[in-house]
Amino acid sequence: MPHLFDPYTIKSITIRNRIGVSPMCQYSSEDGHTTDWHLVHLGTRATGGAGLVMMEASAVTPEGRITPKDNGIYQDSHILKLKRITSFIKSQGATPAIQIAHAGRKASREVPWRGERHLSNSEGGWQIVGSSAVSFGEGYEVPHPLSLNEISDIVGSFKKAAKRCLESGFELLEIHAAHGYLLHSFLSPISNHRTDSYGGSFENRIRILLEVVEAVKEVWPSHLPLAVRLSCTDWIDRGWTLIDSVYLSIELKRLGVDLIDCSSGAIAPNIKIPIKKHFQVPFAEEIKKKADIATAAVGLITEPKEANNVIYKERADMVFLAKELLRNPYWPIQAAQYLNQITPGLIPLQYLRGF
Ligand SMILES: Cc1cc2nc3c(=O)[nH]c(=O)nc-3n(C[C@H](O)[C@H](O)[C@H](O)COP(=O)(O)O)c2cc1C
Repeated sequence: MPHLFDPYTIKSITIRNRIGVSPMCQYSSEDGHTTDWHLVHLGTRATGGAGLVMMEASAVTPEGRITPKDNGIYQDSHILKLKRITSFIKSQGATPAIQIAHAGRKASREVPWRGERHLSNSEGGWQIVGSSAVSFGEGYEVPHPLSLNEISDIVGSFKKAAKRCLESGFELLEIHAAHGYLLHSFLSPISNHRTDSYGGSFENRIRILLEVVEAVKEVWPSHLPLAVRLSCTDWIDRGWTLIDSVYLSIELKRLGVDLIDCSSGAIAPNIKIPIKKHFQVPFAEEIKKKADIATAAVGLITEPKEANNVIYKERADMVFLAKELLRNPYWPIQAAQYLNQITPGLIPLQYLRGF
C-alpha cells in the first residue's frame, strides 16, 4: 500500500511524494506577469517539501482573469518570469504545475482584500462573458453569452496557453473546469441555459470542455500529465452531480486526461455545503473507482495521519492542500517527521539544523 511520502509516477514524471500545493490565486501579478511574490511564495512551498507545486489559476485571455491582478498566460511575455519559477521549483526536487483558466461570468472583480465587487470599464474592468446571459448572483453583472465563433476562439486560447506553459517549464498542466468559472458554467444546468449545440443535454454541456482538452492535447506532449479540476457536485437540486462527474471523467480519460482534481461547489452564491474535514475525499474516491482514473483529493486536509490514510487506503492518488500550506509551508517536512517517512533531500541542506 502506498504512503504519503512514496513517490508517484504519472506519465514520464515522478513526483517525490503525494502532497500537492493546491492552486491559489495571489492577486499579485502585473498585466498577467508573475512578480517576485510568486517566486518567493511558490519557492517556499517547494523548499517546504511538497511534491507538486501548482501555480494559481492563470488566465488564457485578459478577460478570463478574475481581477486585474490575476496571473495570465495569454501572451508570450508571460513566459520569461514563469521560467524562473519552474526552474527554482525543480531545483528543490519538486514538480512545477500550473492551472489554466477562464473566469467567465465571475471575472472583472476587485481583488478580495479591497472588497468584493464588480469593476466597471472605467475602473480597469471589462465586459464579462459566459455560457448564457445569466448573472452569478447579486452584485454580479449579466455576462455576454458567447457566440459559436467566440467559443471557438476561447478553445484556441486554451491551446495557445498550454503551449506557453510547456515553454515555461511546467511538467503538469491542469485545466480549471470548477468553481463556477467559464468551463463549469457550461457544464452545469444551473448556469447553462443555451439551446444550441453547447447547451441542453449532458453531451452538449460537456462539449466545450472536451474541445478544450482535445485542443490542449495537440500541443501538450503525451509524455506529460494533464489534469482537470472539477466541481464534482453543485450541492444543489437540478445542478451538476457526482454521477455527472463520473461520466465526464470517463470521457476525459478517453481523450487522454490523466488525473481529476476533485473539488466542488461555487456555481451560485449562498448554497449550503456540509463543509467538514475531508468532505470532498469521497468524490475523489468515487471517481477513482468508477472512472478508473487517478484523482487528487482536496479540501480541509490538515492532519498528517489522516492525509496518509487517504493515500494508504487508496481513496486518492494525491492530496492537495491549500490554506494549511498558507499557514505552514513546512507542513510536508513536519508531516514526514511525524509519520517517520523522511525521504532523502526533503529537508533543504541549508535548513537541516532547523529540523
Ligand atoms: C487564497 C486562495 C486562492 C485560491 N485560488 C484558487 C485557484 O486559483 N484555483 C482553484 O482551482 N482553486 C483555488 N482556491 C481553492 C483551493 O485550491 C482549494 O481547493 C480550497 O482552498 C480547499 O482546500 P483547503 O481546505 O486545503 O484550503 C483558492 C483558495 C484560496 C484559499
